[in-house]
Amino acid sequence: MSDFTHNFWSIFIGAVTLISIIACLVLLWVSGKVKVKNATADNSTGHVWDEDLREMNNPLPRWWVGLFILTIVFALVYLFLYPGLGKHAGSLGWTQKGEYEAEMAKGAQQVAPLYAKFSGMSVPDAAKEPQAITVGEKLFLNNCAQCHGSDARGSKGFPNLTDSDWLWGGTPDAIKTTITQGRTGAMPPMAAALGGADDVKNVAQYVLSLSGSPHDSLRAQLGKAKFGVCAACHGQDGKGNPLLGAPNLTDDVWLHGWGENAIMAMINNGKTNQMPAQGAGHGGKLTAEQIHLLTAYVWSRGGGQGQ
Ligand code: HEC
Ligand code: HEC
Repeated sequence: MSDFTHNFWSIFIGAVTLISIIACLVLLWVSGKVKVKNATADNSTGHVWDEDLREMNNPLPRWWVGLFILTIVFALVYLFLYPGLGKHAGSLGWTQKGEYEAEMAKGAQQVAPLYAKFSGMSVPDAAKEPQAITVGEKLFLNNCAQCHGSDARGSKGFPNLTDSDWLWGGTPDAIKTTITQGRTGAMPPMAAALGGADDVKNVAQYVLSLSGSPHDSLRAQLGKAKFGVCAACHGQDGKGNPLLGAPNLTDDVWLHGWGENAIMAMINNGKTNQMPAQGAGHGGKLTAEQIHLLTAYVWSRGGGQGQ
């Protein structure tokens, strides 16, 4: 019981509890001993209520006294076995935390053979097993859906995991690394590097042209000349770089919104976007086996790249 920051409270609570129990015993004993002195001939105490309701001078019924003593014995045995008297841990060593951990361990033991069966398989092989996908989906709903959506299709800022477009690569290894260690995609504000507001607009038009979106071709031509500073991350052809998490700008898949305004906002403000690490050794709480099944699930939903 580490809840007590000071010994005083532990002793205080223990003392109050024990004294109360002893007081109950004393009360029982005293009430059994003390006879009403001036009992009347009809064995009543002389107290009368509601005209004819008289209090008799009878001893406590034996069965009642027996029960009373039993509850006291129970309380003492209980307090000996379980925590209850301040810091006294109880001779059974029971704790809430221990109980929780035992239950979790039991649960883990039940699913261990299941995880073991799949962890020996490659991700593509595991992805063929309906049971592996079912477990993977459950894990996904519990750990990932709040950001990526229950259908894994994501939303603005949270990538869709069911298309074959990957920021960080869609091979089993890349996905596993993403889930285990997390990823941080960072694009710095680029307006100053481009020149003025007009240059930002021109480059935005050029980016639109890359995916065949409607665009102003004159501005796009001017923007193309400035795209060199973007190419360091997005590649000369704008197809992105999975080592940096720089998106492919030619595929008409938009993580941060489509259109001139959205692109200009990216260029002007930049963006830092984080996928939190999920692996137990990296600040997350998922085991390698769980991540293996999650990888199989995500990989199969995302088109199965690099099989
Ligand atoms: C707190 C929100 C959050 C949670 C929870 C989360 N993710 Fe992510 N995830 C993101 C963000 C944001 C990105 C994009 C990172 C970036 O822009 O580089 C991402 C990226 C990814 C990617 C890379 C996608 C690509 O295109 O390369 C994968 C795979 C992924 N997440 C899987 C998962 C799985 C599996 C889980 C659950 C175990 C999970 N995520 C939980 C926010 C989250
Ligand atoms: C230092 C590397 C870097 C440079 C330089 C860079 N970007 Fe980016 N860019 C990124 C990263 C990383 C992301 C993804 C951010 C995220 O994870 O959400 C991104 C995202 C974007 C997006 C959003 C794509 C989408 O799917 O919504 C656009 C548009 C974009 N960049 C355009 C540009 C343009 C135009 C330039 C040049 C002016 C540029 N970037 C320069 C790294 C860079």
